[in-house]
Amino acid sequence: MTINVLFVCLGNICRSPMAEAIFQQLVDEAGLTDKFHIDSAGTGDWHVGEQAHPGTRRILAQHGIAYNGRSRLITAQDMANSHSYIITMDQSNGNNLRRQFGQHPNQHRLLEFSSQTSETDVPDPYYTNNFEYVYQLVKDGCTGLLETIRKQQGL
Ligand code: 4NP
Repeated sequence: MTINVLFVCLGNICRSPMAEAIFQQLVDEAGLTDKFHIDSAGTGDWHVGEQAHPGTRRILAQHGIAYNGRSRLITAQDMANSHSYIITMDQSNGNNLRRQFGQHPNQHRLLEFSSQTSETDVPDPYYTNNFEYVYQLVKDGCTGLLETIRKQQGL
């Protein structure tokens, strides 16, 4: 059975595309590509159809990661599969999802899986412009998330 992992932020141009790309690379490196379906979406529609933010594309390229996704809005269908891992970047994204779709049984903030930071929310580089710091936080969270999923799914 395919394991669905959906990363969610506000605009789906900065943080969740970065998480999608980093997590995909970690999964590929682990030889688990065919076990996963990895995607990202936003709770706001301002940037639907656009490429990721230039800052996200630049930081991913600097770390040797390709990404060609475009922004899309989260759908009821995304939230309907109770087995999917719904991974939000901050508390506000989580609240938006709960308000719109109700409680999902497998919804978590990315940094719950981080071992290296006391931050609970991935700060939004759309406002801070600190893409390198966000990259490090997201990488750490994605590493912990993959470890957790591997344990839970016996991979
Ligand atoms: P993201 O950043 O949620 O990490 O993609 C944002 C991108 C755009 C906007 C807000 C946050 N915006 O208001 O347009």
